[in-house]
Amino acid sequence: MSLLAQIREKAAQKQKTIVLPEGLEERTLQAIKPIVDNKIARPILLGDEGEIRGLASKIGADISGAEIVNPVKTPYFDDYVQAFYEMRKNKGVDLDKAKESMLNPLYFASMMVKMGQADGEVAGAENTTGNVLRPALQIIKTQPGISAVSGAFIMIVPDCEYGHNGIFVFADCAVTPVPTAEQLADFAKASVNTAVELCDIDDPKIGMLSFSTKGSASHEVVEKVAKATAIAKEKFPELKIDGELQADAALVPKVGASKAPGSPVAGQCNILIFPDLQAGNIGYKLVQRLAKAEAIGPILQGMAKPVNDLSRGCSVEDIVNVVAMTAVRA
Ligand code: ACO
Repeated sequence: MSLLAQIREKAAQKQKTIVLPEGLEERTLQAIKPIVDNKIARPILLGDEGEIRGLASKIGADISGAEIVNPVKTPYFDDYVQAFYEMRKNKGVDLDKAKESMLNPLYFASMMVKMGQADGEVAGAENTTGNVLRPALQIIKTQPGISAVSGAFIMIVPDCEYGHNGIFVFADCAVTPVPTAEQLADFAKASVNTAVELCDIDDPKIGMLSFSTKGSASHEVVEKVAKATAIAKEKFPELKIDGELQADAALVPKVGASKAPGSPVAGQCNILIFPDLQAGNIGYKLVQRLAKAEAIGPILQGMAKPVNDLSRGCSVEDIVNVVAMTAVRA
């Protein structure tokens, strides 16, 4: 069974409630039927019921399995405004601004997740990554002990003897442009959770990537990766991790043995943590295009409750899969 089929199956065992704030987005409406038919989640669409049903019937989308919530008509709208005001008053948000924010479906959806009205959120078919992430970062925030959210990709590389039978987790490929050493350490921990929960990787081994292996080059950016590795080892002693490592030393047993002798993970890594967002984003796209790998993500990790961002070029099937991944993490 494919990894995505396994993820859909796991989601079906959980039956979580997932809010989709883009209630007037056509692919989102078309995704409702497969989500419901395959019991992947209980979907909630946000928006005006008449408008949503009108669009669904115009495009022939069966949305009968979805709950429709119109934020302003909910009995808890004012409570959400008040809660958002309390959360953000130190950041210059007054009650008018809080109300304006709650009228934005992306903010309202994050508040539904925060308040337990939904178990997770999926958006981004018509909104940018930044606009989806900002309310989630402000309202849902990170898991305890994790300082920053990151975006992982599950990479499934055909005919590949490295990693977990060609399966890898790459991070951060989507969120934090210039991470600190502390944030890089947290990306490693969060990536292990992704590897275990979504990929069934039972022996996660993390390589903290650089252009240097164990002091072969010296530069402040190399030192940052070495420091991140030391922080991760101290903060999460259960992790199997090493760094700084070049990508070949992380992946290829022979190279790992010669460049990083005695390393517990060199040559066997199935989780790759990139030193910054440019490297991570470029890295996953190169592997996707040149090795014809399947790239599943970005999967947001480190958030207190799961939120995931779609690509604006997503297909209906992509939405169904991202809802399934979100439900599994809930
Ligand atoms: N983890 C946790 N919290 C964060 C993070 C993070 N990585 N980044 C920002 N925050 C928090 C801030 O602390 C702040 O909290 P506060 O307001 O309570 O103090 C809040 O989020 C907003 O932060 P800002 O820095 O004011 O928000 P900004 O407008 O910079 O947005 C964002 C942050 C959206 C994550 C931004 O860094 C971003 O756009 N990142 C890149 C996203 C992107 O374009 N990715 C590539 C495309 S995806 C792809 O190709 C697969």
